[in-house]
Amino acid sequence: MNQCAMAVLEEYPDIVFSYGYGDEYSFVLKKTSKFYQRRSSKISSVIVSFFTSVYVTKWKEFFPLKELRYPPSFLSQIVCCASLEILQAYLAWRQRDCHVQNQYNTCFWELVKKGGKTEMEAQEILKYAKEQDRNELLHQQFGINYNDTLALFRQGTCIFKTEVEDIVKYNEDGTPVKRLRRKAGIFRSENIAGRRFWNAHASLLKELGNFSEDCFKTNPDYIRSFLFESKLMPSTWIVIRIDGCHFHRFADVHEFNKPNDKQALDLMNLCAVAVLEEFHDIVFCYGVSDEYSFVLKKDSQLYQRRASKIVSAIVSFFSSMYVMKWKDVFWKKELKYPPSFDGRAVCYPSNEILQDYLAWRQVDCHINNQYNTCFWSLVKSGKSKSEAQNYLKGTQACEKNELLLKEFGINYNTLPLMFRQGSSIFRVKRENPTLLENDASSVEKIETKIVTEHCNIIEQSFWEAHPSILN
Ligand code: GTP
Ligand code: MG
Repeated sequence: MNQCAMAVLEEYPDIVFSYGYGDEYSFVLKKTSKFYQRRSSKISSVIVSFFTSVYVTKWKEFFPLKELRYPPSFLSQIVCCASLEILQAYLAWRQRDCHVQNQYNTCFWELVKKGGKTEMEAQEILKYAKEQDRNELLHQQFGINYNDTLALFRQGTCIFKTEVEDIVKYNEDGTPVKRLRRKAGIFRSENIAGRRFWNAHASLLKELGNFSEDCFKTNPDYIRSFLFESKLMPSTWIVIRIDGCHFHRFADVHEFNKPNDKQALDLMNLCAVAVLEEFHDIVFCYGVSDEYSFVLKKDSQLYQRRASKIVSAIVSFFSSMYVMKWKDVFWKKELKYPPSFDGRAVCYPSNEILQDYLAWRQVDCHINNQYNTCFWSLVKSGKSKSEAQNYLKGTQACEKNELLLKEFGINYNTLPLMFRQGSSIFRVKRENPTLLENDASSVEKIETKIVTEHCNIIEQSFWEAHPSILN
C-alpha cells in the first residue's frame, strides 16, 4: 500500500500529502490544483485507477511466492476541506480510526492466537472494552505494551515530498556536484494532526500552511458532514464511461499496431467481460479504442447509486484486470508501466436517449477508424504526419473509402468488424440452460451466457433482436 501511494505521489505533482493505514489511503491535493480542471470524477477515478494498477504490478515484488488470486479494487471519493483546520480535523479523524482499529485487532488476534479463544469469544470479550481496558488486557494477559508495538500499524503512514540533496556528478577534482530534488518519503508520528509534527516540516508549511493550534478532539459526525456524496438520479440508465489516460503514449511505448491493435482491443474486451461478470447490474458494455461504456440497469441500487462509489469500483476493477490479464494477451510483451483510466457517470432517462448515446459512440468509432486507417496508410506510404493530416482535411467518408481502395487496395468494408464497429458485450439466454454444481447442497442453474459481438447497434434491429437487454 505504501509503495503504491509513493508511486501516486511521484505520478501526480499536485498531491502534496498522503496518509494511509490498513486498506485505505487519503491523498491531499493542493488548494490551487487545476488537475483535470478540478473535475471530481476525473480526479478520483484516475488516482484510484493508477493506485490499483500499481498495486497489481507490484504484487510479485512483495509476495514472490503468493499468487494474486483475483483482481483487487478500491473505492474512492473526494472530500473538499474548506480550511486547513478542517483538513487537520480530517487527518486526526483518520489517524484516530487507525489507532482504534489496530488496537482492537491486536487484542482480537492475541486472544485467538495465544489466548485460545474462538473468534466469537474474542469478539464478545472486546465488545464493551474501552481503550484503556484493551491496553490493560494486552499488558496483563499477553505482556504487550501497546505503545511498543510497530508504529507502522499503530500510527499509519504519511508520505510527502521533501527536498533532498542528490549528487548529480563529480567534478574533475572529485568534489560532488549536488542538486536539490523533491523526493517522496515516509514519515510517522503519534499525532499527524499535531503542531509538533506538522509545523516541523518545511514542505508541509509551504504547500499547505501551518497548524496554528493542536487538534485535540474531533467529532467524526462533523467530519462526515464534508463527505457528502452525490447520488445518481433514480430510475435512469446509468452509463459509466472509462477512458485510458494518455493512451497515445501508452500505445507508442507498447508498440501497438496502428491504427488498430487486435491484441490491445482483445485485452480491453477481456476486462469488460470480467466487469460484466462482477457487476450484476451491468446490462450492456460498448467499447472502442481505449474507452468502454458500461450501462447499469435503470433500477440499480449499486452503492445506493452513489456516483463516486460506482465509478471508482468499476474503473478500479477494470484497471486491476488490465494489468492481471496483460500477460495472457501479450505473452511476449512486457508491461512497461502501470496504465490508468478515468471514469465518469452519466444518467439517461429513456431507452431512446440511451440508444442515442450508444449510437454516438459507435459513430465516433467509425469516423475515427476510417480517418485513422487513411492517416496511417498515408504515413506508411511515406507521407509525413502533417502531410497526411492536410491531405485528409475536409474529405468526406466516400472520398476516404475511395482513397483507401485506389491508393492502397484496401476495401474499407472488409476490414475486421471489431475495428469498424467496436465491441458490444451483453448476456444472452442460453437455449439449453446448464446445471452447475457448486457443492452437494446447491445446484445453480446457468441460464445466460456472456457474448462479445461486433455489430451495428445504431440500427433498431439490434435492440429488437435482443429485447432482454433493455427490458
Ligand atoms: P486522454 O484520454 O485525454 O488521456 O488521452 P489519450 O492519449 O488516451 O487520447 P484519446 O483517449 O482521445 O484516444 C485514444 C488514443 O489511444 C488514440 O489516439 C491512440 O493514440 C491510442 N490507441 C487506442 N487504441 C489503439 C490501438 O489499437 N493502436 C494504437 N496504435 N493506438 C491506440
Ligand atoms: Mg484516452
